[in-house]
Parts: sequence; structure tokens; C-alpha cells
Amino acid sequence: MNYVNYAVVDGVACIVFQNPPVNSLGHGLRVAILQALDQAEAAPEVQVVVMTGSDRAFSGGADITEFGTPKAAWHPTLRDVITALDEYTKPVIAAIDGVCLGGGLELAMAAHYRVATERAMLGLPEVKLGLLPGGGGTQRLPRLVGLERGLDMIVNGLKVEAGKLAGTLLVDRVVDTPLQEAAIAYARECVSAGSVLRRTRDIKIAEPDAQALLQVARRNVAAASKHFPAPSLCVEAVAGCLLPFDEGLKQERVLFMQLMNSPESAALRHVFAAERAALKVPGITSATVKRDIRRVGVIGAGTMGGGISMNFLNAGIPVTLLEAEQVALERGVGIIRRNYENTMKKGRLTQAQVDDRMSLLSTTLKYDDLSSADLVIEAVFEDMGVKENVFRTLDAVLKPGAILATNTSTLDVNTIAGFVNRPQDVVGLHFFSPANVMKLLEIVRADQTSPEVLATSLALAKTIGKQPVVSGVCDGFIGNRMLNGYRAAGEELLLHGASPAQIDHALEDFGFAMGPYRMGDLAGLDIGWAVRKRRQAENPHLDFSSVADRICEAGRYGQKTGAGWYRYETGNRQALEDPVVTQILADYRKEKGIEPRQFSPKEIVERCVFGLVNEGAHILEEGIALRASDIDVVYLNGYGFPLHRGGPMHYAQQLGLYNVVRAMRRFARQSDKAAEFWQPADLLVQCAESGEALK
Ligand code: 3HC
Ligand code: NAI
Repeated sequence: MNYVNYAVVDGVACIVFQNPPVNSLGHGLRVAILQALDQAEAAPEVQVVVMTGSDRAFSGGADITEFGTPKAAWHPTLRDVITALDEYTKPVIAAIDGVCLGGGLELAMAAHYRVATERAMLGLPEVKLGLLPGGGGTQRLPRLVGLERGLDMIVNGLKVEAGKLAGTLLVDRVVDTPLQEAAIAYARECVSAGSVLRRTRDIKIAEPDAQALLQVARRNVAAASKHFPAPSLCVEAVAGCLLPFDEGLKQERVLFMQLMNSPESAALRHVFAAERAALKVPGITSATVKRDIRRVGVIGAGTMGGGISMNFLNAGIPVTLLEAEQVALERGVGIIRRNYENTMKKGRLTQAQVDDRMSLLSTTLKYDDLSSADLVIEAVFEDMGVKENVFRTLDAVLKPGAILATNTSTLDVNTIAGFVNRPQDVVGLHFFSPANVMKLLEIVRADQTSPEVLATSLALAKTIGKQPVVSGVCDGFIGNRMLNGYRAAGEELLLHGASPAQIDHALEDFGFAMGPYRMGDLAGLDIGWAVRKRRQAENPHLDFSSVADRICEAGRYGQKTGAGWYRYETGNRQALEDPVVTQILADYRKEKGIEPRQFSPKEIVERCVFGLVNEGAHILEEGIALRASDIDVVYLNGYGFPLHRGGPMHYAQQLGLYNVVRAMRRFARQSDKAAEFWQPADLLVQCAESGEALK
């Protein structure tokens, strides 16, 4: 493979990177760039060098897939290539279009001059991978854009349009396309003007308030980046730019390696790969036909239907919202409008944008008005009878090729597909509440869902800004099914002596934004109570009772009734421990003959998180999730699992599956009743024993 294209035109050597899709600076490309630079330097006819990429990417940075492998250190490293530029004897111009990120920008900053198209995006986003720029970026960017702006770009991982950087030394000229021609013209100007070799490393930083600026940054960043060491270390690395260049570089290197070995960066890099892997589905290729989605119908204007509609309105796709009754329709539309108006009040939308979005929304009580829809998403009551009527009616009115989607959270999508004569067009699109905010979209692939429908759903997720994960059919799909494991582990802790506050605190210290009991009080405990009662009625031979029933029986439904697992003072959402709950728990334990004991925060976290992990492993065994990392994507984007832990399956992997299985076996020994629950999934045992990773 030719990683670069090299050509000399009238004294200008052009080195064009060719490592699609984003010219990441893997070993092959590094070797090729250095060879081309050496060739150009040795060629007497070459007066000036232009380095460029594609219209999509000058370069997306260091090759992330090499991190943690020996290849990352193979020479020439990125630093070797950058040093070669620093020592180069002919002018080098970086010509930038598309993205120029991380190591890519570090390379461009070591060139003597830079031209860029207005739309090109420049940035050092390493912090988003839990890293800091390790190729001299923390030293060169402040020299080119100033300390304050450089600090802001590095600490926040900002990508900035080249047009907005004109006037700084980072972008010497904003040029039109075709870029290569414009860059060659600029190169010739440099030659005729006898331009010097302007090395970024030689630029002096003249910032009289540098120390004060750094102090403020240290304070602000430390306060805003709990759980993540990278932002603070970015500030320290940038502070090194006040030292002699090579010392600053050395300091950057030490801090970079510290982060590269941190669990937080491992988690963030895992998430980067996991979110992209989730888009890859066996049987779906770039050749799979995708259907055009130009008009959408949504059935049910309740909590979910309204939020789902907003996603499409935001993306400029017209929506027809159908309800059973006019009042429900008006209420639903009123909520959508109010949501937009609230966003406008916060300055995040203009009146014209609100009007545009609302103008894309039409309403109806008649199914015939959905006849031109390309996709209809049903979000009516969670009742199979109601869903059956809706799907049978849709089957009669929708045009051929329309996609029929259900937002059900628990019902069998195969059964729903059985109500229509086109089961290949039925799919689950499981949004999360609030549906206009939450990023996760579970795409539920039923037995007969066609590849076309699946491919269209995946593409649609991108259009509306969602992170899709494909799930098979089971009760609760990936996310809610695992939640059962988490809840059951919590219930066991309560029964054996932990208090709701102890459990919440332990999980909040672990990194969850809210523990399960504070969350329950916020969401309302009556919903789960109703579900348990329904399940109990449907399955009299099973036991769905929970200590939560006792809380609800006492009229404590959570914040909305001023009491739940905690008590609340009027007008205040602070959760206060309540002796009434302590008593309810004590009575319940006594009835069950359980002697309460103490749990450490560590054991609380282990039990709750391993409850998730075990159910996750069952989900993998059954093929409901395609890969372990999909489960992490679900938990991070839909359930508030702490990002710095990388998701439950990654976290378990980092702890060591052997240790996880051993802990589960210990929990199983501690309680006869829970022994079955704590039986580790076969897949976990197998991986723990073989040392293989969960895949
Ligand atoms: N290394 C390896 N692969 C990369 C990559 C990188 N730096 N950047 C993107 N890719 C891959 C993606 O994994 C994806 O692969 P796939 O097709 O197999 O799934 C493919 O390129 C396309 O990426 P996206 O789907 O994300 O395409 P978009 O067009 O939506 O986004 C992008 C392109 C803006 C470049 C985005 O991929 C991105 O943000 N990449 C990461 C950029 C980054 O963080 N760079 C810094 C790396 S660390 C570094 O440089 C260290 C240095 O300081 C020493
Ligand atoms: P909801 O009760 O807020 O709204 C349901 C709406 O459907 C009501 O406005 C009702 O008038 C309307 N409706 C009922 N029967 C209808 C019919 N035959 N034709 C047209 N409209 C009809 O319910 P919610 O919470 O929006 O849930 C809807 C679906 O989404 C359910 O399947 C639920 O399981 C699922 N879901 C709910 C989530 C949540 O957090 N609320 C999350 C994810 C999925």
C-alpha cells in the first residue's frame, strides 16, 4: 500500500497522505512521510515541500488502534517525524482541509507555514480520550495562537474552523479549493519572497499574565473535571511552554505517558472504539440498500411520542402525530411547544427556529393521514392488545416499503411483527426518556426484520444524533433487562442490612450521578409497583414482591408525594434519611428472619455492578447483544454508568474476570435465597478460567 503520493511539480514537492478514511498516523504512514521528506530534502530540484491529506482529513491524529500495542512505539514514532520537520532545511507548508486533529495538527504545527480551507477543523481533542497532546502540541499551539486560546483549545479539546483562526500564526492563509493548487501557489510565493524557515519551536511566548492565567485555569479545571485527571495535566503540560522548548517537551512526554497508562484513558479509548463498533452489524454492509425517510408518523403524543417527534423536527423531517383523542393530541403538542420555548429562553434556539420546527409538525386522529409516511413509530400504552390494534390498522393504511417501528420497552417485538403481513418491515426503536435528550437508541432486530430496515434504522440514528445499539428480542432488551440485575442486587443489600442512603452514596462515589433509590424517588415508585402487580397477576406461581411494595403501601411514591425511600421538605428536593423507612426495612427483615449486617461501600458497589455484569454476560451468551462493548455503550448512554469506568463490561474486564467470578461465588455462599442469582454466567466462568477477554 502506498501511504503517500509523492510528486514534484516545478520545484514544489507534494506529499499527499493516503491512509483512508482519516489519515491516522499509523506506523505505515509515518514511515512513508519520513521517506518522502528525506527524498524531497535530497532532491536538488525541490525548493519547497507541501504536505497535505484528503478533503475529509489532513489527519485525524495518531492511530488510536496502535495505542497499547508495540506498534505505537515503532520507529519512526510521531515524535521522530516531527523532529525531522524541526531539523528540515527546506520550507514545508502544511495544506489543510477536512479535520486536522491531535497528532495531525501537531505534525502541521511543526511545518514552517500552514494554509487551510475555511471549513477545515483544527484541534487537539486528546483530552476526550483521557490524554494530552503528546507530540509537542502543548508546546507549539500556545506559541501559534497565544497562551489563553491554546489552553482553552487543549483543555476542552475544541475543534475550531480554520476560518476562525485566520490572523493567528496557526493559519497563515485561508485558501479556496482545490487546496493543492492553492498550496502550491502559496509555496511559490514563499520561495520568491525568500521566506525563512519559521520554526514554531523558536517562537517566544510573550504573555505578561501567564502565571495568573495558569492559576485560574488550574482552579477552574480541577473543579470541573472530577474523576478525570487529563484536563488538569493538560494545564500542567501547557505551563511547560514557559520553560525552554526542550524542557517543556520533556515534561509533556512524562505527563502524556502518565495518562496513557491511566484507567480513565483506557476507559475513554474503549468508549471511542465501542461507539463505532456498535454501528457494525453482521449482514449489513455499505451496499445494503437504505430507504429514504422523508416523512415520519408518530402514534401516541404522551411522554415518549412527544420527545420522539422532537428528534425528527430538530433534524428537519416532517412529523405527523396521531392520537386517539383530541385532548391528548393538544396536550402533547403543547408540551412540545413548551419544551422548545424553554430552550429558546435559555438562548439555545431562536424564535424563527422554534417556528420552523413547529411548522414541520402536523396532527391527526385519522390513520389515513399516515399513508405517505416512510416510517411510523408507535408509542402508545404498553399493552399488547392496544399495540395489536395499532399495528393491524397501520398494516392496512401504510404504503408498501414503509417501516413500522415500536417503542415498546418490554413487549415481544416478534409478536408485534406477527400482527402485520410485512414482518420484514417491523423493527423496535427503543428511545429513552426524555427522548429528545437521551442519546441512546436501542434498535431491536426481530426475527424477520430485513437488513434494509436495520440499515435504514442505523442511518436514521445518525441523522437524529442518536447512538444506536442493536439488540435482539428479550424482555427489557439489553438495558432494562440488565437493570433487573442491578435492582435485585440492591434489594438483597437492603434486605441484609444496608440502608438506601448507604447504597446510594457508595454508587455515587463510584461515579453514578444518582444512586438507585434517589433515582427511584425522582422517577416515582408507583410505576414499578404497578408493573410488579401486573407481572404477579400474569405469573401467580412466581414471586415479584419487593420491599419497595411496603414503601408504596405507605403512600410513599417518591418526591411527588414528599416521601419515598427518603423524605423531602416542601419545596426542597434534598433527600433526607427517614426513620420511617428504617423501621419499614427493620420490620421486613424481621419477618423474613434475616439478621442485618454491615456492608462496606466496596461490597455495595461490587454487588450492584456485578449484578449488571452477570446479566450482561447472559445477554451475550444468548446473542441478544452482538458484543460486550455494545452493552457498555447502552449503559453509558442510557443509564448514567460513569464514563470514566468505561461501562460495566469494560470495568469487569479491568478488575479481572477471575476476581469478578470469585466475588460472585462468595456472594452466592452468603445467602441461600440469592445463590441462584449469584451463579456466574457460563461465559464469565469460561473467560475467567481461560484468561480470554469478553467479546
Ligand atoms: N486513529 C485510528 N482510527 C481513527 C482515528 C484515529 N485517530 N480517527 C478516526 N478513526 C477511524 C474511526 O474509528 C472510524 O473507523 P471505522 O470506520 O472502522 O469505524 C473511521 O476512522 C471514521 O471515523 P468516524 O466514524 O468517527 O468518522 P467521522 O467523520 O464521524 O469523524 C473524526 C472523524 C472527527 C476524525 C473522528 O473519528 C474523531 O474524532 N477521531 C478521533 C480524533 C482524535 O481524538 N485524535 C487524537 C488522537 S490521539 C493523538 O493524536 C495523540 C497524539 O497527541 C500523540
Ligand atoms: P404515555 O401514557 O405517556 O403515552 C401514551 C400515549 O398514547 C397517550 O397519550 C395515549 O393517549 C396514547 N394512546 C393510547 N392508545 C392509543 C391508540 N390506540 N392510538 C393512539 N394513541 C394512543 O406513555 P409513554 O410513557 O409515552 O409510553 C409509550 C410507550 O413507550 C410504551 O410502550 C412504553 O413502554 C414505551 N417507553 C416508555 C418509556 C418511558 O420512560 N416512559 C421509555 C421507553 C419506552
